[in-house]
Amino acid sequence: MSDTVKLSYNGKEYEYPIIESVIGDRGINIAKLRDETGLITLDTGFKNTGATKSKITYLDGDLGQLYYRGYPIEQIAEKSTFTEVMYLLLEGELPTREQLTQFEADIKKNSLVSEEMKQILKSFPRSAHPMGVLSTLTNALTAFNPHAVNVKSERDLHNAFTLLLAKFPVLCAWTYRLKLGLPLNYSNNRLDYPHNFYQMMFRKPTEDFEVDELVVDAIDKLLILHADHEQNCSTSTVRMVGSAHTGLFASISAGVSALWGPLHGGANQAVIEMLETIKDDGGDLQKWINKAKSKNDNFRLMGFGHRVYRNFDPRARVIKKVADDIFNKLGIHDETLEIAKKLEEVALSDSYFAEKKLYPNVDFYSGIIYRALGIPTEMFTVMFALGRLPGWIAQWKEMRMNGEPINRPRQIYVGSPKRDYVEIDKRN
Ligand code: ACO
Repeated sequence: MSDTVKLSYNGKEYEYPIIESVIGDRGINIAKLRDETGLITLDTGFKNTGATKSKITYLDGDLGQLYYRGYPIEQIAEKSTFTEVMYLLLEGELPTREQLTQFEADIKKNSLVSEEMKQILKSFPRSAHPMGVLSTLTNALTAFNPHAVNVKSERDLHNAFTLLLAKFPVLCAWTYRLKLGLPLNYSNNRLDYPHNFYQMMFRKPTEDFEVDELVVDAIDKLLILHADHEQNCSTSTVRMVGSAHTGLFASISAGVSALWGPLHGGANQAVIEMLETIKDDGGDLQKWINKAKSKNDNFRLMGFGHRVYRNFDPRARVIKKVADDIFNKLGIHDETLEIAKKLEEVALSDSYFAEKKLYPNVDFYSGIIYRALGIPTEMFTVMFALGRLPGWIAQWKEMRMNGEPINRPRQIYVGSPKRDYVEIDKRN
């Protein structure tokens, strides 16, 4: 196999080396392309562009494979905990018992959020979207922890990472409690991560608190499934913002904003809203499938399709099982969920979706589970953000450790050529 690619342009030949991968896509190193040829590449949406070399997550969209640090997601989801996964993504290896205990302790000692943060939280109206609130609060952590992270110091990095891993779930729970007008709960350091998050979300001062282990387990699995997904939109945002040497918390806050969009993490909210609309419209599934297929209609089947997966999203397989367990155990009967199941069936047997390789993605099912757990629709993407946090941090760390230069794409200019300024009275 050739280890270079030849380009012929203007009667000259140029040669560019192949970048090898461990598995998956290999790349062409075009670092010298512009200097040598005067050309740049155009790849709107980065469909063919590798932004970095990464050791964190591997996914094969055609085979529907996803590995965290080499471990298949199915094994991780079955055997691991979210806390272990956080460690794995950040440190590159699964922790020993001692390492895990130390990691948990380091997170717990940072779990108190400044009381002044509550003032910022409470200045939002209850109608505020939780993702906007979360992004703001995450950015505000910079003000409360102003010392820039010295990326040359392992200890500084570890402190900043564990601080964020500790405070972010509190901020997520607080955005939920604000939405519902409930008093804010604090972290309970006697509990492990998922039980602690569960109590911060759902414990009411007026009632005895009962823990549903199935729900805690489902939350932990959902967090694991969302923990990283290589160079997706929000992760690329975190890396890009961080490439300007912007601080960790501000970079992550930008990632939260990117995740909010309905074509990305916001799809889990959009799925439920779509199902509700279909239900209120009389439940004629074929009508909505036809709308999704029509070139003259902007409607898309939310929760279907993925930029990289052209096969079943492996996370969707795992999550579907979680959804079944939850519904069987809780004995839930919900018309919206019935519509979801039927819609999936109809879409999967339709040639349009088969030909375009559009399968349900992780967000088709995650929203359904969150709904069954009684989490308000607008909170769904916050749950996604909580899961994605360790991935964002690991990617930010990798980018800084690699000493990557500031991310600054070029463009092909197609606007007006140079022209002289026209005085206001002479414009028509
Ligand atoms: N419903 C109907 N048609 C679709 C859908 C859909 N959900 N998704 C893609 N298509 C069609 C497009 O219209 C296009 O058709 P064409 O080739 O005839 O023009 C073709 O499939 C390819 O679609 P693109 O938009 O080019 O694919 P891209 O990779 O850019 O987009 C995306 C991927 C954004 C996920 C898209 O499939 C989509 O909008 N899905 C719905 C939103 C969603 O569920 N997002 C969550 C993704 S998972 C995540 O971010 C966590």
